[in-house]
Amino acid sequence: MGKALLDVLTGRTPERRPVWLMRQAGRYLAEYRAVRQEAGSFLDLCYKPDLAAEVTLQPLRRYDFDASIVFADILVVPHAMGSDLKFVENEGPVLSLVRNMDEVNALSDAKGAWQFERVYETLGKVKAGLAPHVTLIGFCGAPWTVASYMIEGRGSDRAVALAAAAKAEPWFVRLVDRLVDTSIDYLVGQVKAGAEVLQIFDSWAGDLPEGLRARWVHEPIARVVDGVRKVFPGLPVIVFGRGIGNGHAALARATHANAVSVEQDTRLSDVLKDLPAGVAVQGNLAPERLMAGGADMIAGTEAICREVPMARHVFNLGHGILQHTPPEHVTALLEAIRKTDGRA
Ligand code: CP3
Repeated sequence: MGKALLDVLTGRTPERRPVWLMRQAGRYLAEYRAVRQEAGSFLDLCYKPDLAAEVTLQPLRRYDFDASIVFADILVVPHAMGSDLKFVENEGPVLSLVRNMDEVNALSDAKGAWQFERVYETLGKVKAGLAPHVTLIGFCGAPWTVASYMIEGRGSDRAVALAAAAKAEPWFVRLVDRLVDTSIDYLVGQVKAGAEVLQIFDSWAGDLPEGLRARWVHEPIARVVDGVRKVFPGLPVIVFGRGIGNGHAALARATHANAVSVEQDTRLSDVLKDLPAGVAVQGNLAPERLMAGGADMIAGTEAICREVPMARHVFNLGHGILQHTPPEHVTALLEAIRKTDGRA
């Protein structure tokens, strides 16, 4: 079998509809929780290549997915640039604040950062353990989303970052520029280490008013994609502008993405009809429906498969898999997809 994900992203007809799930490695799997315990903290796990490769491969042993996404985090970039980063149990990430030009200038360019080297090492180990039909995905956060974590110090607030973006504060402009440059270096390193596809996560894109989207979502992501493709022409890229509703086709055109990942509240067929020929959609079953399972999950899955043709679609969730998802629901999900497509 060929690589179904690469086929869809490069305009070829796949042998089956490609499927992978955001956060497919994670706390819903007992074997993940065991390795996470062994590693100590979540960040230790990200930076121990043997263990990170092991948890990356765990879901592939259970499920016949078409892709593997390297186990790391979007906040590895600020960490490599010198931000203090901690993951607080039941609260999420906490970072040191960056809110003026001196603090932006004090960040490192992260060239040769040990954090990046560890992720590259993980990619190499994962690549060696993948079946030939599975595509290896590398990733980073988009500059707007990563900047907002650095400015707010946590994921729950956006007010200071939004004000800085609206006024195009010089320090904010400089922070975004620096994140563009560092993200290019990091993604180029990931491709050299074995990543075949890249996904850029702009998880907070939907929080920016529409009038600011071109400048702070489209433009920085486009610069990252162009920068990577200067080194690796034609490298397939998936862009996830979460929460931008009817804006996905414009995002795809502005960034030259091969696919756009779409949140659950937007109809994939509406996005697809506005997309340039050859660009695909990814998504978008609600993670809550996977967690609930049963007839509703099957119905939602069938509806998505009937709505968009497999040559233009990468099956995924609208956001990451939830912690309390029963693992057997993922088995049922894959069965439903293959059955609907007549590939069971
Ligand atoms: O998808 C995968 O399986 C690959 C690994 C991956 C993780 N984070 C592992 C992770 C990826 C691609 C990410 C991306 C990421 N990280 C995003 C963008 C996607 C999105 O969800 O919108 C964001 C915003 C982050 C930042 C982040 N990391 C937060 C807010 C949290 C805490 C939330 C939580 O679920 O606790 C994390 C932690 C995190 N990243 C976990 C995992 C498996 C849970 C950590 C644990 O084991 O305790």
